[in-house]
Amino acid sequence: PSGQLLDQRARPLRDLRISVTDRCNFRCAYCMPKDVFDKDYPYLPHKALLTFEEITRLARIFTAHGVRKFRLTGGEPLLRKGLEQLIAQLSALRTPEGDALDITLTTNGSLLRRKAQLLKDAGLKRVTVSLDGLDDATFRSMNDVDFPVADVLDGIEAAREAGLQDIKVNMVVKRSTNVSQILPMARHFRGTGVTLRFIEYMDVGATNGWCMDEVLPSADVVNLINADMPLVQLDPTAPGETAKRWGYADAHGQHDPQLGEIGVISSVTQAFCGDCNRARLSTEGRMYLCLFADKGWDLRELLRGGGDDATISNALGHIWGQRNDRYSELRAHLPPEAAQGRKRVEMSYIGG
Ligand code: GTP
Ligand code: 5AD
Ligand code: SF4
Ligand code: SF4
Repeated sequence: PSGQLLDQRARPLRDLRISVTDRCNFRCAYCMPKDVFDKDYPYLPHKALLTFEEITRLARIFTAHGVRKFRLTGGEPLLRKGLEQLIAQLSALRTPEGDALDITLTTNGSLLRRKAQLLKDAGLKRVTVSLDGLDDATFRSMNDVDFPVADVLDGIEAAREAGLQDIKVNMVVKRSTNVSQILPMARHFRGTGVTLRFIEYMDVGATNGWCMDEVLPSADVVNLINADMPLVQLDPTAPGETAKRWGYADAHGQHDPQLGEIGVISSVTQAFCGDCNRARLSTEGRMYLCLFADKGWDLRELLRGGGDDATISNALGHIWGQRNDRYSELRAHLPPEAAQGRKRVEMSYIGG
């Protein structure tokens, strides 16, 4: 019965996104702009971070409330020392029916060549790599630390060699920056088994200076690719999915599975809050009910204050039960100034 937990909008809890570090070795301007995230930035001290044992304990309790998927994020999750140990601990968890859970990771790919096999051996099932372009100069300027694109591509290759399944690549599209990269990226990954997903640039955080002019609607991305390589719309695979799927068509206009598919994540132009089943756990153990939330619920205090599992479980039930968040839907009806002035947490702190 605890698996039936629903929020105020009748949405179940299925997906827990766990941020394991607020640090990153890249400085993408839309996420950790250099002038804000400099050497004086107050990153969390080590003792503020949830330990792997604390994360796993929470994850187990979340599982009893219906969570079936864990996604590790950051910052850059592979910067967290010994991350494979956390993956091993999470892999040992089971659903109430005795099944394994879906465990995945969102990474910038820079450390994948070094870590992919270790992660796979620890029980990681799949991986998503962020990559905003193929042109080396464009990519180096987007990550703003002069990191070469070839090393990320090699990281993706390492993930494949290690046997990680269902590899996805996320590309954030900004009108002024990487629209020219949409077609080259699509051509590059078509037919490789890697699913490329285009993300509308979102107004997360308060430091990236977001404005609507920078958002290229996903519909434009689909039209652009379709004109070159015909696409057909595919059905969703799971309720509450972030991406709309489009398959590459064969000569008869049917989806050709060999050619694969793309996805578009349109949180600005087509909000998907209606069946959002995602909770987020920050690096220091606050639970956020929305990517755009301005406050989190302190679970670390509960953990470290000696609360038993039942107490924590009740608290989680209460927190999710009163949830009413649907920021992206609401923003669609707000004037842009209202969206810009709002206080909220940074993406690098809460995870994507
Ligand atoms: P899979 O499809 O299972 O691989 O997971 P996913 O779609 O959750 O993947 P991923 O973490 O790669 O999410 C892709 C991107 O979508 C994130 O980096 C965010 O930019 C965006 N996103 C994910 N969840 C949400 C959400 O709840 N709200 C909004 N507005 N954006 C989200
Ligand atoms: N808008 C859209 N996507 C973003 N990401 C980070 N910041 C933003 C933003 N402002 C993406 C990253 C990565 C994931 C964690 O979130 O590129 O794919
Ligand atoms: Fe790092 Fe990802 Fe943020 Fe870029 S988007 S700064 S890679 S966490
Ligand atoms: Fe979920 Fe908030 Fe994103 Fe809407 S904006 S889909 S409620 S995380």
